[in-house]
Parts: sequence; C-alpha cells; structure tokens
Amino acid sequence: APLLFLAALIGYLSGSVPYGLVFAKLFGLGDIRKIGSGNIGATNALRTGNKKMAAATLAGDVLKGTVPILVFLPFGLIPGAVAGFAAFCGHLFPVWLRFKGGKGVATYLGVLLGFAPSLVLVFALCWLLVAWASRYSSLAALTATLAVPLAAWIFGYGVAAILTAAMTALVYLKHHGNIRRLVAGTEGRIGAKS
Ligand code: G3P
Repeated sequence: APLLFLAALIGYLSGSVPYGLVFAKLFGLGDIRKIGSGNIGATNALRTGNKKMAAATLAGDVLKGTVPILVFLPFGLIPGAVAGFAAFCGHLFPVWLRFKGGKGVATYLGVLLGFAPSLVLVFALCWLLVAWASRYSSLAALTATLAVPLAAWIFGYGVAAILTAAMTALVYLKHHGNIRRLVAGTEGRIGAKS
C-alpha cells in the first residue's frame, strides 16, 4: 500500500505540471488560457502560431505520463497503472490551477507509451487519419481514445483495457464543449489562429 500511495503521489505531481502554461509564458506569449479555446494543451498552443512552443508543450504533456510509469512499472502492473492514471488525473485536475487543467489527449498518449506501447500504434493511426481527413484535433482525439480501450479489450489486455477505458471516459467529459462545437459546426480546425 505505501508503494501504491507513492505511485499515486509521484504520478499526480508529474501530471499536474502545466507545461502549456509554463512554455507560453517562457516564450513570451502570455497566458495561454486567454487564447483560442482557453485550453492549456498543444492544440491550443499551436493557435499562438508558435510551432516550437506547441511541440515543447506536446513533449512535456506526453512525457509527464510516460516517466512515472517507467519508474513504477518495474514494481508491477498495478503500481505502473496507478502512476499513469494519477499522472493523467494530475494533468486534468492540477491543484496549482484550482483543478482546472487540460483535456488529457497528449498525456493519454504518454501513458500508452509507458504502459502498452502496442496501443500507441492504434492511437496514432486513428488520430492521424481523422486529423488529416477532418482537421479537427478534438474529433481525432475522441476517435483515437474510443478505439484504444476497444483494441486493448480485443487484444486481451486486462489492466490496460480498464486503465484506458477510465481515461477515455474522462477525455470525453473534458471534451463536452468540443463535442457541442463539433455538432454545431463551429469547432476550430488544427492550426487555425483565433
Ligand atoms: O488535444 C486537445 C484537443 O482535443 C482539443 O483542444 O484547444 O481545440 O479544445 P482544443
């Protein structure tokens, strides 16, 4: 139990670092929460027009999920899953931003990278295909995160199927505004500045 507590704590602390907010400030672009969708993620970072800042945000938000898993997975599947899920929750609900964090897509990818690399392929293929066809980052994320737990279940992955299904439910909750805009036809396309 102390190990699981430590996994949850380290995971949460790693996930709660708001890289998009930090990098936007460091690059002199102001408060990212006042730009575009107001989200602190890489998609919204791209709306500043600064591709390097968006790439740095993506890297930070992916690795914040991967690193705690690499630390705790050697102790077992459950400590690894707890560290990953905690990092994901830290990104969505960071104490430093009064629990108003990101939407979880990049960190989801980072968790897959550390916990079930074969699922990265499923995620990446779905995301890239839908993003290429629609230019909607949110629709790409909603498709990819639906496919991943299904694939995990089909592949017979027990823990990964439960972990990804839980993360997908939270991704959908965080995208309620995007889903409304997609249905209304007012969602912003990838790279379109606003
Ligand atoms: O990765 C987040 C994406 O799905 C939505 O971001 O800024 O368009 O709300 P945003």
